[in-house]
Amino acid sequence: MSDLSRPTGPKIIAIANQKGGVGKTTTTINLAAALAEAGKRILVVDLDPQGNASTGLGIEVEDREYTTYELLLDDIEPEQVIQKTETEGLFIVPATVDLSSADIELFANEKRSFLLHDALRQTQMDQFQFDYILIDCPPSLNLLTVNAMIAAHSVLVPLQSEFFALEGLSQLMLTIREVRQSGNKDLRIEGVLLTMYDRRNNLSQQVENDARANLGELVFQTVIPRNVRVSEAPSFAMPVLSYDPSSKGAVAYRDLALELTKNNG
Ligand SMILES: Nc1ncnc2c1ncn2[C@@H]1O[C@H](COP(=O)(O)OP(=O)(O)OP(=O)(O)O)[C@@H](O)[C@H]1O
Ligand SMILES: [Mg+2]
Repeated sequence: MSDLSRPTGPKIIAIANQKGGVGKTTTTINLAAALAEAGKRILVVDLDPQGNASTGLGIEVEDREYTTYELLLDDIEPEQVIQKTETEGLFIVPATVDLSSADIELFANEKRSFLLHDALRQTQMDQFQFDYILIDCPPSLNLLTVNAMIAAHSVLVPLQSEFFALEGLSQLMLTIREVRQSGNKDLRIEGVLLTMYDRRNNLSQQVENDARANLGELVFQTVIPRNVRVSEAPSFAMPVLSYDPSSKGAVAYRDLALELTKNNG
């Protein structure tokens, strides 16, 4: 039963696609930055042992003493694992390679699929007053990703605008259906986001047409263009919104934030 004395918690969104390199981390970082720029309080949970979201948001490896691993598997206070970033209102739970063994250790835990769900809903989280929590998932449909989907209200699916883009979607949709049956019956699809879109390339347009024909309203109106500033920003450890605020990529992620907040009333 929900506790009416507690504030309504943040909206939790898992950014997932088991296909590698489709723009999950880029979307997590820049959507988070765009929402923060709009005055929201945002937590990014880096759920990928690669730790790309942590690096991209400027958390050095030596500053990752407590990470998502401890959040999931150890008794640790949220204020110990949540770190500030350079962007006002944007916080992160970082990850390191340690998380790759968590996927195995989770199997031995009877609450294995619910660890992130429970961690993000403990009362000590309330003080942060987050509006959104964005979870950057690994490129796999493993227990970490299932934890994200059990914890989340919705899944945002980045889709790279290239050949075979739609191929892996049926597997992802199957996993979402299984999660609905096994512990999170209200899990929604927040939307499918076309990334690395190249207007001069017929293939991008074809992927967009296919996606809109097959998935209809599920596809975000906003499309993220392929933009070199977006790919440069992580090496300067900042979102593209800070690195080059007027770049096409930054503008697109601001549009996405607006579309997402509109959809969420
Ligand atoms: N809009 C864009 N324009 C140009 N390059 C982009 C864009 N989006 C992502 N990239 C680049 O594409 C590569 C893959 O992006 P990203 O790391 O976000 O994908 P991912 O799905 O998180 O990958 P993984 O599955 O390994 O976690 C990165 O080098 C990133 O900089
Ligand atoms: Mg990634």
